[in-house]
Amino acid sequence: MSEDTTKGTNKTVTITDDSTGKQATFPLVTGTDGPPVIDIRRLYAELGCFTYDPGFIATGSCESNITFIDGDKGILLHRGYPIEQLVRHCSHLEVCYLLLKGELPNQAQFDKFSSDITNHTMLHEQLHNLYRGFRRDAHPMAIMCGVAGALSAFYHDSTDINDPYQRMVASYRMIAKMPTIAGWAYKYSLGQPFMYPKNDLGYAENFLWMLFGHPCEEYLVNPVIARAMDRILILHADHEQNASTSTVRLSGSSGANPFACISAGIASLWGPAHGGANEAVLKMLGQIGNKANINEFVKKAKDPEDPFRIMGFGHRVYKNFDPRAKIMQKTCHEVLNELGVESEPLLELAMALERIALEDEYFIERKLYPNVDFYSGIIFRALGIPTTMFTVLFAVARTVGWIAQWNEMIEDPTQKIGRPRQLYTGSKRRDAAPIEERQ
Ligand code: ACO
Repeated sequence: MSEDTTKGTNKTVTITDDSTGKQATFPLVTGTDGPPVIDIRRLYAELGCFTYDPGFIATGSCESNITFIDGDKGILLHRGYPIEQLVRHCSHLEVCYLLLKGELPNQAQFDKFSSDITNHTMLHEQLHNLYRGFRRDAHPMAIMCGVAGALSAFYHDSTDINDPYQRMVASYRMIAKMPTIAGWAYKYSLGQPFMYPKNDLGYAENFLWMLFGHPCEEYLVNPVIARAMDRILILHADHEQNASTSTVRLSGSSGANPFACISAGIASLWGPAHGGANEAVLKMLGQIGNKANINEFVKKAKDPEDPFRIMGFGHRVYKNFDPRAKIMQKTCHEVLNELGVESEPLLELAMALERIALEDEYFIERKLYPNVDFYSGIIFRALGIPTTMFTVLFAVARTVGWIAQWNEMIEDPTQKIGRPRQLYTGSKRRDAAPIEERQ
């Protein structure tokens, strides 16, 4: 870690157990920014109780110096740099370098990194067979979970988590191979030949090539679209201790190999409350159908008896506009312009829904704003990417965040296996009878 951020407060918090009168004092620890945390590691030893915090609403699970979010102010920083500046001045591969290594690369560092990544983009040829084992109509996220995990069966020389060199090789492999895995998942669903990566293309261009190219004719990647894809990758690259990243950390805390951990992260990302939301937004807009129906759906979302939610709205951390959503909204218009889509009915519907929801007391009170997924689905659709691939694109982008956070965890000397406690509400001890004696 570049600097010791967890010192600097003499403050403490004292907790009294009213039932026993016992008292214990715990350090209040401050980081570089954000609220302080109470270090309660000695709570059980001192007071004989645990904390209870389902969903980790108020629990810090680790120390990290990668990403900082201030959800009230709508701030997102990677290694201290605002997301808006990274999108303006950097490519996704530069951001990958930053997340992995802590600093933005100079030209020589970038050239070496870019060449290393480019030289790891091919997949082991035998993986073809694995793809063919999936049903043709398999969800591409199912294929992603399977193939990412299977990399541990192919790259044995980068699974020793105690060897820093092997960890770095595994990290490069994950970043390099994920677009190929995703491209092949798509090609498999179409029944088209798998496209091999092309070393003369940039990261985003290469990804588009593997999605949309085919061997029969030249496919030239539109630079505006490539830039938009690169920006989308940057916007999704990391987001501190979200569900999938915490899953990667928790899986890795047992010493599991990085490929298996990333596969676990992909599984977590798949859910509609997380990365699956971009797919869910499009489905929802399809169900709404036209502007006249918006009020009915907003009413459903507000009904406490109805589980329906406006997908792409709300965030656990952002209680102000998601800064990524602002950039995504702009990118969305640029892409539609470039593609000559003057009026995209789904975008118009999304904008109308956004307007109505943002003016509604229910959404204002709960600080529910559009999140990054609200717009990304519309861009993907305009690019001709099918809905089932949306979360796959998110997984490709988030891979660097997962692997950077996994590396940080392994290198943290205080790291222990993740093992939460619980509030048990089941039966007290009782005796088991043989089946013939049971009622
Ligand atoms: N539509 C309608 N009401 C909502 C929505 C929504 N999208 N999101 C939250 N609410 C309401 C809840 O019903 C709740 O109301 P209540 O206080 O009357 O019970 C209140 O707002 C707080 O919601 P919680 O579920 O407690 O908030 P939490 O932080 O646990 O959930 C989440 C955050 C999962 C993102 C939620 O807002 C949601 O389900 N959004 C839709 C799915 C989505 O877009 N996910 C993408 C997240 S971003 C990402 O992963 C990149």
